[in-house]
Amino acid sequence: MLTGKKAGLRARHEEDIPVLRTELHNDVVNAARASGRPWRPMSPDAKNPLFAADDEDEGRVEFSVVELDGGTLIGTATLWGIDTHNRSAHIGIGLLPSARGKGYGTDVVGTLCHYGFVVRGLQRLQIETLADNAAMLGSAERNGFVREGVLRSSAWVLGEFLDEVLLGLLVKDWKPDA
Ligand SMILES: CC(C)(COP(=O)(O)OP(=O)(O)OC[C@H]1O[C@@H](n2cnc3c(N)ncnc32)[C@H](O)[C@@H]1OP(=O)(O)O)[C@@H](O)C(=O)NCCC(=O)NCCS
Repeated sequence: MLTGKKAGLRARHEEDIPVLRTELHNDVVNAARASGRPWRPMSPDAKNPLFAADDEDEGRVEFSVVELDGGTLIGTATLWGIDTHNRSAHIGIGLLPSARGKGYGTDVVGTLCHYGFVVRGLQRLQIETLADNAAMLGSAERNGFVREGVLRSSAWVLGEFLDEVLLGLLVKDWKPDA
């Protein structure tokens, strides 16, 4: 397990999946804002790989986020679009509603930076988030990510086009203990 200051990143367990589907996917507003794909309902025994980790997908690593104190599941953390030629990847996080706004997001971004830069030897990490997602922007900027641009009207979200902000962090600028 990778440990941050208050949350750990471990492998996805089978019993995590129903919790994540109920609390993240079935929250239509959250799922529509976070996923970039059209929301659709999912039956409990769906074969759809949503939240199921695929160990053979070299371009994506799925973690479950747990509280260090007690091990309770509090969300997902993903390194996706791993590009071993340009040595870059993207970060995604989804915390259960009860875990938001308590500093876990900032901690998890830091731990994903450690995984990306130290464990995987990447040199650039990137985050795309909706321009009004203050919590994700704050979690990224606390870890040294800088805003590199605005993707105007790039996301169709529940009836309107919204701007996304693109943030990047290079390993040379990363301060692990920030
Ligand atoms: C986005 C997310 C991962 C952030 O994690 P978090 O634990 O809620 O964020 P933190 O508590 O670490 O807060 C980070 C910063 O944002 C601020 N913040 C947190 N929630 C906020 C809110 N609702 N409104 C405004 N600011 C907020 C915090 O004060 C903090 O700022 P600071 O560093 O200046 O003190 C989490 O809220 C989440 O999973 N949201 C739903 C899914 C989602 O949006 N995922 C991202 C898709 S790109």
